[in-house]
Amino acid sequence: MAMWVSLLPPPRLLLPLLVLLLPVVAAVHGGYGHSNLTVGFYRHSCPDAEAIVREVVAEAVEDDRTVTAPLLRLHFHDCFVRGCDASVLLNSTKNNTAEKDAKPNHTLDAFDVIDTIKEKLEKKCPRTVSCADILAIAARDAVSLATKVVTKGEWRKDGNLYEVETGRRDGRESSAKEAAVHLPDSFDGILKLIARFKSKGLGLKDLAVLSGAHALGNSHCPSMEKRLRNFTAQYDMDPTLDTAYAATLKQQCTKPEDNETELAMVPGSSTTFDATYYRLVTEKKGLFHSDEALLSNGATRMLVYSYMRSERRFFSDFGVSMLNMGRVDVLTGRDGEIRRRCAVVN
Ligand code: HEM
Ligand SMILES: *[C@@H]1O[C@H](CO)[C@@H](O)[C@H](O)[C@H]1NC(C)=O
Ligand SMILES: *[C@@H]1O[C@H](CO)[C@@H](O)[C@H](O)[C@H]1NC(C)=O
Ligand SMILES: *[C@@H]1O[C@H](CO)[C@@H](O)[C@H](O)[C@H]1NC(C)=O
Ligand SMILES: *[C@@H]1O[C@H](CO)[C@@H](O)[C@H](O)[C@H]1NC(C)=O
Ligand SMILES: *[C@@H]1O[C@H](CO)[C@@H](O)[C@H](O)[C@H]1NC(C)=O
Ligand SMILES: *[C@@H]1O[C@H](CO)[C@@H](O)[C@H](O)[C@H]1NC(C)=O
Repeated sequence: MAMWVSLLPPPRLLLPLLVLLLPVVAAVHGGYGHSNLTVGFYRHSCPDAEAIVREVVAEAVEDDRTVTAPLLRLHFHDCFVRGCDASVLLNSTKNNTAEKDAKPNHTLDAFDVIDTIKEKLEKKCPRTVSCADILAIAARDAVSLATKVVTKGEWRKDGNLYEVETGRRDGRESSAKEAAVHLPDSFDGILKLIARFKSKGLGLKDLAVLSGAHALGNSHCPSMEKRLRNFTAQYDMDPTLDTAYAATLKQQCTKPEDNETELAMVPGSSTTFDATYYRLVTEKKGLFHSDEALLSNGATRMLVYSYMRSERRFFSDFGVSMLNMGRVDVLTGRDGEIRRRCAVVN
């Protein structure tokens, strides 16, 4: 239950809340068994590890509120290709084109924040904290700093939406081809999305609640072109997109190759993590076909409506599913290595 520490409601609400959360907690333990990761893995080996990550992320966010989205997305891209092993951070070499340079990479960002964190950690505790864990902690911190329930609507550097597990080690390989195969595509329909999540040991609930990450950040015109003008042989425009919203997007994206115009995932609040995304989805205003696809399965559709109505439920399920995603194919114990610099293997 450590996960709820910073979100504890007044005592009179606590009992009903516990009753509500019990099935969720049970499902985690039942579904995934014990993971080899733990909360506070660096408690003895590098007690300030999480504080150092938070400090750098908070500074970056204070400087530029939009940095939270790429930090969250990096952890997702990492976990979906070869497991959460920081393969997303490796540079290409003469021999090898890395995930970073795969097609779905476009617009991955915030590598500099990760590098700054790693430099500080190497000074404080050399060769101790993995880049994969840095990604997981930074994602948790980014989303926490963007969540008003945590920050109480003001700029605050502390408070967590959920407790993060650590103990991952870094992999030695990264492949652009694998990224193209494993990362979901914005044109995926529900069956493909479910299959892609299932192949990572993630279920329908994980899919529905993690898609809520699209409360944060932006997209770009190349990701939209097909949906706006050339969807299928049958439809020029994706029929699951609201027509008035499509018209606005077309005005913003006049050139398909325009990679500078930013399209907010949630217009007007793309730096605040909340449940507005789910209302947009029910209004056919999700930016991607994959967002709208959540409506075409009974279970995910029910979750969309339930998160729209209960932000509290969205936040608690999101924390649970981030832990699930953070456990995908991790290297632990003596596997892998602790990279000295996140962009290259030792
Ligand atoms: C369900 C399948 C998913 C698909 C098809 C998908 C696809 C995309 C696409 C196409 C973009 C925009 C890229 C661009 O044009 O710049 C994007 C952005 C983003 N995605 Fe996803 N995504 C999915 C799931 C997730 C998950 C699980 C997370 C995190 C837990 C996530 C976090 C984000 C964030 C935060 C952004 C904004 C990045 C920024 O502003 O720099 N996405 N996603
Ligand atoms: C934990 O690590 C051991 C040894 O590496 C491995 O056999 C086991 O499958 C791991 N357990 C989980 C839940 O990942
Ligand atoms: C490149 O490939 C060659 C032959 O497969 C190998 O000997 C060499 O170590 C590789 N270099 C790098 C940087 O991976
Ligand atoms: C993404 O890949 C392209 C090549 O496909 C490369 O030019 C670009 O620099 C990569 N972006 C990042 C952020 O690494
Ligand atoms: C529309 O999509 C088809 C198939 O993906 C492609 O061959 C065609 O060139 C596209 N047309 C335009 C105008 O972009
Ligand atoms: C953005 O588009 C311009 C021109 O279309 C191109 O020269 C540039 O490399 C693109 N940038 C990225 C990051 O893809
Ligand atoms: C990795 O690649 C980036 C961009 O090409 C470069 O700026 C950086 O110095 C490289 N990092 C290392 C450790 O080689």
